[in-house]
Amino acid sequence: MSNRELYDIALTVNDQEVKGRVKAETTLLDFLRDNNFYEVKKGCDKGDCGACTVIMDGKSTLSCITSVLQAQGSKIYTVKSLGTWDKLHSLQQAFVDYEAVQCGFCTPGMLMTAKALLEKNDHPSREEIREAISGNLCRCTGYKKIVDAIEAVSKGVRK
Ligand code: FES
Ligand code: FES
Repeated sequence: MSNRELYDIALTVNDQEVKGRVKAETTLLDFLRDNNFYEVKKGCDKGDCGACTVIMDGKSTLSCITSVLQAQGSKIYTVKSLGTWDKLHSLQQAFVDYEAVQCGFCTPGMLMTAKALLEKNDHPSREEIREAISGNLCRCTGYKKIVDAIEAVSKGVRK
């Protein structure tokens, strides 16, 4: 602790150490965006939409309702850890191939939820996929194409 109001924090984001001084009420989402991780989207900012999902210590995590102090020393991964324009991650490629992206606002969070799911369960049923993404709202796609894309990756199918 540095003084009564600010706390020193250090965590890793996409394998890079990030340090800062934060207020006790700072959320992980605001900390990430303040450190230029704008790929983590701010939607509802109250735990309802899933847009801000990151992977924290192996679990999909809503960064808007996680205090950055809880993330002290954690390993955080955002969607930028997945792939690049030249070499998309299989989930990113499947979202493109199955047209599971429209406006794209939900996509970073949806991809991280899908990644966390497949790390835990590499052959989920469609029901398990639906259950896993139930906290990630998408106003555009109707979800079927998203489920198709995640299922295709789990089965190793390319469109
Ligand atoms: S911005 Fe975090 S759940 Fe909506
Ligand atoms: S693609 Fe627009 S909200 Fe999901």
